[in-house]
Amino acid sequence: MITAPLFTPLSVRGVTLANRIVMSPMTRGFSPDGMPGPDVASYYQRRAEGETGLIITEGVGIDHPSALGEAGLGENSIPTLAGAESVAAWRCVTDAVHTSGGVIFPQLWHMGPMKEANTGPVPAAAPMRPSGLWGPAGRLTSLDAGYLARVSAPTRAMSDEEIADVIAAYRRSASYAKAAGFDGIAIHGGHGYLIDSFLWSETNQRADAWGKDRTARSRFAAEVVREIRAEIGEAMPISFRFSQWKQQDFKARLATTPAELEQTLGPLAEAGVDIFEASTRYFNRAEFDGSEMNLAGWVKKVTGKLSMTVGGIGINKGFYDSMAGTETVAQPDLTPLLDRFLRNEFDLIGVGRSLLHDAHWARRARLGEPFLGFSTDSLTRLT
Ligand SMILES: Cc1cc2nc3c(=O)[nH]c(=O)nc-3n(C[C@H](O)[C@H](O)[C@H](O)COP(=O)(O)O)c2cc1C
Repeated sequence: MITAPLFTPLSVRGVTLANRIVMSPMTRGFSPDGMPGPDVASYYQRRAEGETGLIITEGVGIDHPSALGEAGLGENSIPTLAGAESVAAWRCVTDAVHTSGGVIFPQLWHMGPMKEANTGPVPAAAPMRPSGLWGPAGRLTSLDAGYLARVSAPTRAMSDEEIADVIAAYRRSASYAKAAGFDGIAIHGGHGYLIDSFLWSETNQRADAWGKDRTARSRFAAEVVREIRAEIGEAMPISFRFSQWKQQDFKARLATTPAELEQTLGPLAEAGVDIFEASTRYFNRAEFDGSEMNLAGWVKKVTGKLSMTVGGIGINKGFYDSMAGTETVAQPDLTPLLDRFLRNEFDLIGVGRSLLHDAHWARRARLGEPFLGFSTDSLTRLT
């Protein structure tokens, strides 16, 4: 198998990636009181040593009291970018990654409707929801019944002032990220969290300029991007993760046609996004009728920006499908991925669990070495 095409450099604004392999963001919960320590630095440094072209960190809470809080998700050990102490802590991580030749973006995260009341670093902070809605009941989800019972009651909708506060918090966290030496900014705009809950009509039923139609539903995301761009300047890239699926509804679709996708994401491209990460569970699936192209292919086509595909690379089962404890086997055959890459469907390939299991996955791909057989055990060790 010739993987050489994946090992060509890519320049985005002032940053050059040595190859096309991206560590997909994966939450760990190993940062007590939100502060990453030396073990976090060495975790990411190992992926840089293993020749990963771009590391996108685990979700990092933005500088807002309501950003984090989901029971079972490493209570108070999700890292943050909120103030001088966090800048110093992350500086150790970025230095370690740079020493090993890597490039690293933090994934800025606000949980929005998924924040559970009375949890997280600021338990009293009310969850932020565009219309007070968590999402429709009874859809396909892997969330447990206890959590659903605790979060699904409607709360109040965000006020205009709260919307402005959260956007300002994204901007502050981007400034901390720049001060900490990160090379770019990744924004979590998928999976039913805050930004996605503005994009999705089931959670955004506002009648105002933040929700009255598809373009208005994109406004919050676009404002976040615009503020971050204004803060970090022109040299640092911005990547934006979006997904059709939501944790509230695995079968949800933000866009049922390419035209809808363009309407939803076009304003973000204009606001300053350089890379769209199309979060899918299986990269090798057609997105819309009449074409084999996957979601990353479509977002590249309709926005003209760079795109990253993700989902099941080097592994034969999707993320949620392997959580039941099924052992999955590494698949050394990357031919279907390479075929799509060579057709110029996408520019980057996101690797999640395979890179969790084997920090040297990218190097092995370059050398054509056999991959290590994957075990779901990696999902609990998270090392
Ligand atoms: C343990 C774990 C934690 C994850 N945490 C995040 C996260 O914080 N942010 C995010 O956007 N995606 C998260 N994901 C999704 C991954 O980035 C990726 O999209 C998904 O695992 C599919 O890729 P894979 O099949 O290569 O694992 C997580 C996945 C795993 C396995």
